[in-house]
Amino acid sequence: MSKIENMFSGSALKDRKALVFGASRGLGRAAAEQLAAMGADVVLLARSAERLRLVADELREKYRIATTIEAADLLDEAALAAVLGRHADTDLLITNCGGPPIGPYLQTSLEDWDAAYRQIVRAVVQATQALLPHMAGRHFGRVVMIASRTVQHPLPLMAISNSLRKALLGIAETIADEFGEKGITANLVCPGLTRTERMQEVLSARARNAGKPEDELLGEMLRPIAAGRVGRPEEIAAVVGFLCTDMAGYIQAQCLLVDGGRKL
Ligand SMILES: NC(=O)c1ccc[n+]([C@@H]2O[C@H](COP(=O)([O-])OP(=O)(O)OC[C@H]3O[C@@H](n4cnc5c(N)ncnc54)[C@H](OP(=O)(O)O)[C@@H]3O)[C@@H](O)[C@H]2O)c1
Repeated sequence: MSKIENMFSGSALKDRKALVFGASRGLGRAAAEQLAAMGADVVLLARSAERLRLVADELREKYRIATTIEAADLLDEAALAAVLGRHADTDLLITNCGGPPIGPYLQTSLEDWDAAYRQIVRAVVQATQALLPHMAGRHFGRVVMIASRTVQHPLPLMAISNSLRKALLGIAETIADEFGEKGITANLVCPGLTRTERMQEVLSARARNAGKPEDELLGEMLRPIAAGRVGRPEEIAAVVGFLCTDMAGYIQAQCLLVDGGRKL
């Protein structure tokens, strides 16, 4: 007999522990809230302890779950190792980070590439290498990487994102191959234009580059989007939440575009 579950109930992720990177604002914060709403305990990581504390207090009160804050820089290997050591019992790993610098290819410095690699790729390798053996021991694990639609569709002025984020798919494919039989899945959630501080940063940079007012440029950016609007962080978070459920156990190494049906 088939067993249909209410995947978004307040207890769907009860007894699960999530570690969410970049959880102080934007998409990471929304993902953390979605998981908390589904009953998971959450560990929130970002650099700003102050912002993390506000998020943690809010989620704990609203959803009656346990919260831990970890103020750490993803670029700092030792700091990240210490966090991972403290949370080896993580069931749900949500990787996410600050967006890389935006600009014409020739103006991206090698230092920009190095820093972006450390945050976008290396931190994910470090975290998954540390946590996968524990997840495998418990026969359950979810790795959800918040990436970008640039994984499939390159965007102007985003050379670093266009290039490095594709590596995440390779990592997810490898994890799926080596750990799939241990009840572990690895997938990418790939947002399009979504209302956050980072989106404002991208909009301003592109408007400056094009010499156009931001309103006009936003209008142009919305034209190829079937939904005709900017996305909401909660709409990205809902996909993260679903991928963390038991029922998403047969989805492996996918890059799920959540971009309002953008055509270009
Ligand atoms: N919003 C969009 O339209 C969109 C579309 C496609 C892809 N994305 C990508 O999705 C990711 C999240 O986007 P967002 O819009 O939520 O960005 P955001 O508003 O800039 O938030 C980034 C989060 O990452 C944390 N963070 C940044 N650098 C960090 C570091 N070195 N170590 C630890 N934490 C760090 C930030 O907190 P602290 O500053 O306190 O560390 C913050 O919590 C980005 O990589 C972005 O490029 C966004």
